[in-house]
Amino acid sequence: MHNALMKQLIERPVLSVNLAKTLLYTFEYRAIYYLSRSFAPFVKPPHRERRKELIEHLRNKVIEIHKIDAENIANDVYPIDVIIPKASGDHVRNFPKLLLDSLRISRRRKLNVKNEINEEDLGDVPDYLNRNYHFQTDGYFSTDSAKLYEQQVEILFSGTAAPMRRRLIQKIKEASKFSKPIRILEVGAGVGTASFDFAKSFKYSSYVVSDVSSPYLEVAKNRLKGRFEFVRAKGEDLPFKDGEFDLVFSVYLFHELPRSVREKVIKEAYRVLKKDGMMAICDSIQKDDDPLLNEVLEGFPLDYHEPFYKDYTLWDASKSIDDAGFRDIQSDHKLLSKYWTAKKRE
Ligand SMILES: C[S@@+](CC[C@H](N)C(=O)[O-])C[C@H]1O[C@@H](n2cnc3c(N)ncnc32)[C@H](O)[C@@H]1O
Repeated sequence: MHNALMKQLIERPVLSVNLAKTLLYTFEYRAIYYLSRSFAPFVKPPHRERRKELIEHLRNKVIEIHKIDAENIANDVYPIDVIIPKASGDHVRNFPKLLLDSLRISRRRKLNVKNEINEEDLGDVPDYLNRNYHFQTDGYFSTDSAKLYEQQVEILFSGTAAPMRRRLIQKIKEASKFSKPIRILEVGAGVGTASFDFAKSFKYSSYVVSDVSSPYLEVAKNRLKGRFEFVRAKGEDLPFKDGEFDLVFSVYLFHELPRSVREKVIKEAYRVLKKDGMMAICDSIQKDDDPLLNEVLEGFPLDYHEPFYKDYTLWDASKSIDDAGFRDIQSDHKLLSKYWTAKKRE
């Protein structure tokens, strides 16, 4: 069959599946919003965008990222099974819990409660992590939080978080052709959402999934089948030898860290990479990447308790990456995510 026709035959259904996911998550966002609103003034509902120009702009960008995802599948950047829901049964079972939890989150938002974490669950984690990021229940430190996390993120991003994460695979493949199986380290992997897709997209001899949160790592361990190692680790203090990995990457980690910690994580990535190895980052867009969204970037950390986010949006990441010794630094953005790739040349 003609190549272009074959591609269309893949791209169209993938796009339809992705758009259906966006519809579902948008519906779930609305349910949370209206539930919270009905309990006002005891809770503060999440922000609901009403500016027509902005909604239109975001709608176009959502369609664009779904199209890119479909093209990447048609072009074999990653396989089609990445779009299969990873735990659809959990999705349905989780929803009532998630609705209930959204009220607790909205209550914390109303009262600005940010440190409601059980000290015993924290262990030896750094002080800056002792907080309810996103006002979420238990922060990153309970199994309940870990089980709801992925769905909460997709609801926030209207079902575009997975395609935005996957675009990092495209960026890595554009920047480097790995000729033999590689050693991968994922930092701040959470419950392993990106790990599924990365494992299907690269030939690897080892894949270390790491995170500072034991419960999140435990949930990742239960979900991910295959050749993974799970290591509890802080990005700024990695328990690995120099030059162990070909690829070190993180997704949505840096905006949650104080600037000095971000810089340490980059230096640690440099240390544990082999010569010619690659560091890759997917995180939030920054100020002026898309000027129409600047106001959204200002509102987000207040609505979702992200104390280091504002500084992150102003941070010159490429300079920190360069200062750590990396070369061939490349960066671009799509929708709400920004991507960096860089190589260790010496
Ligand atoms: C916003 S979540 C992103 C999780 C996952 N990468 C994803 O895309 O869904 C941030 C994750 O980073 C972890 N984390 C926070 N600070 C960390 C640090 N200093 N070192 C390693 N992991 C960290 C948290 O436990 C959490 O799982």
